[in-house]
Amino acid sequence: MDFSNSTPTTFPQDPHSFSRPEIARITHVDWELQVDFEKKQLTGTGFYQINHQDAPEVIFDVRHLHITEVRVDGIDQDVDFILTEEKPFLGQALHIPLQPASNRVEIQFQTTPQAAALQWLEPSQTAGKTHPFLFTQSQAILARTWLPCQDSPSIRFTYTAKVQVPSHLLPLMSADNPQEKDASGRYFFKMEQPIPSYLLSLAVGDLTFAPLGTRCGVYAEPSSIEAAAYEFADTEKMLEAAESLYGPYLWGRYDLLVLPPSFPFGGMENPKLTFATPTIIAGDRSLTSLVAHELAHSWSGNLVTNATWNDFWLNEGFTVYFERRIMEALYGQDYAEMLHTLGYQDLLHTLEDLQDKPQDTCLKLNLENRDPDEGLTEIAYEKGNYFLRHIEKLVGREQFDAFVNKYFGTFRFQSMDTAGFELFLENELINGDEELRQKINAEGWIHTPGLPQGTPPTKAVLFEKVAQELGKWQQGTSARDLATGDWSTHEWLYFLTNLPRELSVSQMQELNQAFGFTDSGNAEIQAEWLRHAIKHRYEMAYPALEAFLVRVGRRKFLLPLYKALLQTEEGKTRARDIYRKARPNYHAVSTSTLDPLLQ
Ligand code: BES
Ligand code: ZN
Repeated sequence: MDFSNSTPTTFPQDPHSFSRPEIARITHVDWELQVDFEKKQLTGTGFYQINHQDAPEVIFDVRHLHITEVRVDGIDQDVDFILTEEKPFLGQALHIPLQPASNRVEIQFQTTPQAAALQWLEPSQTAGKTHPFLFTQSQAILARTWLPCQDSPSIRFTYTAKVQVPSHLLPLMSADNPQEKDASGRYFFKMEQPIPSYLLSLAVGDLTFAPLGTRCGVYAEPSSIEAAAYEFADTEKMLEAAESLYGPYLWGRYDLLVLPPSFPFGGMENPKLTFATPTIIAGDRSLTSLVAHELAHSWSGNLVTNATWNDFWLNEGFTVYFERRIMEALYGQDYAEMLHTLGYQDLLHTLEDLQDKPQDTCLKLNLENRDPDEGLTEIAYEKGNYFLRHIEKLVGREQFDAFVNKYFGTFRFQSMDTAGFELFLENELINGDEELRQKINAEGWIHTPGLPQGTPPTKAVLFEKVAQELGKWQQGTSARDLATGDWSTHEWLYFLTNLPRELSVSQMQELNQAFGFTDSGNAEIQAEWLRHAIKHRYEMAYPALEAFLVRVGRRKFLLPLYKALLQTEEGKTRARDIYRKARPNYHAVSTSTLDPLLQ
């Protein structure tokens, strides 16, 4: 396979990495890793191939990582490396001196308990309750906490890894993966396509595999593999739909890994192996747009990669757009419009929340001196998607698809910044057409806060009936008599997000008796309902609220619930109480957001 686009000649200035790829950069790494569950520690060595021209040094990123030894060119002698002073969220620069002919660097390292990418789970925190579990989350700049690397999305490298784990556990990586355990506990991984560091991943647990087709499969703990295989049965169809939209899938296999519920995100697009929260296993396949989303990243993000975290919208905006095109191809336009409408509502709420930080509502961000995690808002996702839909409407789908196809094809295995996108848009679509340029208004969408004036709202036809039933309920029809029989998760979410601002406890009770929201097996529905329960002091739901917060670690659910609790004095006490119990189950990504609010 040809991955030849992987060698850019210029590198963007990345405010979140100390590395200087323009003088010396990694092109390939061979790792050796030992996973020690007793010590909760990874011990490893990386053999790095370095590309440079007479550079005096190569610079790596590390954070809360212990460096034990560095060698250059295989020479059996430690070199004097320099670790600079620790900077908040960025960590340290690791400077390694090079000779003009140097091309290989060897670094020995050990992780520390502060490694923010890692979550070491006790058996009790897994589905099976008998074996421990480890997983990583590298995006945005946490790879440097478990491996020395040049931790910028603009730097790509291939890798192999030899991984040693306890013999009853299976390790998986963003690479070609085993489908069965090996009694030796020794595994070999290979990633032939060049990837940026934020896509490095490792998970180790009592995992088993089920095929979903010829190119797709799912890994999960034995007790949930059957449910997972049922839920994700359409994955291969999604892959085919994606390919017919925007070109061949260039990564070989596409597998899913279902993590324990403490996983801090819905999904993470680790190449060849998407990491997913178990909270999307609803039993009715209604939350699988998340799979379409992570799959779409195989093009938007993993092939054409945001050059820095300021260009995050290029990853996520394109991916949301692409995700819904896949969902439309499989389940029809009305279905996709529901997703767009729910996303549009989220966008409006985010714009409201960010009123005091208008600059953060531009697509192009400026995250210098800030943790890139702060740029992770619905703006990149839903405003980004909205902008692309706006262009699609102006030029027509056929022309837009040709444009997107050419974008992925031209820049595959490269990084892209916002200015590069704007130039490509100008050259490939606008083509000197002044009227079209005005209408597209890239400047307004990308560099101006909020939404451009006159942007039409999104409204799915399937939600009209939901609005009608909501109206009837407010006019006095009892909840039980509403016509909700054929509603899917999306209609229910629209119902819940559009309930009147004020609700009495007896109204809450009426809704719950009719629809059983408190004990809903659907995490999206339950989380939305619990937010109402807090707001309207529906105490009957408090035990379920606590159970939810203790079990689930997905930040998107936690944040609104804790924030709602913090609105009242009584709620604050409850929030802190629950947080104390729940915190040991949360990944550092979630605690770093919640600690400042709750401790
Ligand atoms: N790549 C993101 C998750 C991410 C972004 C992790 C930034 C760390 C920093 C992933 O593709 C994503 O967007 N996940 C969403 C789900 C999606 C359906 C919107 C999530 O986790 O909620
Ligand atoms: Zn995403």
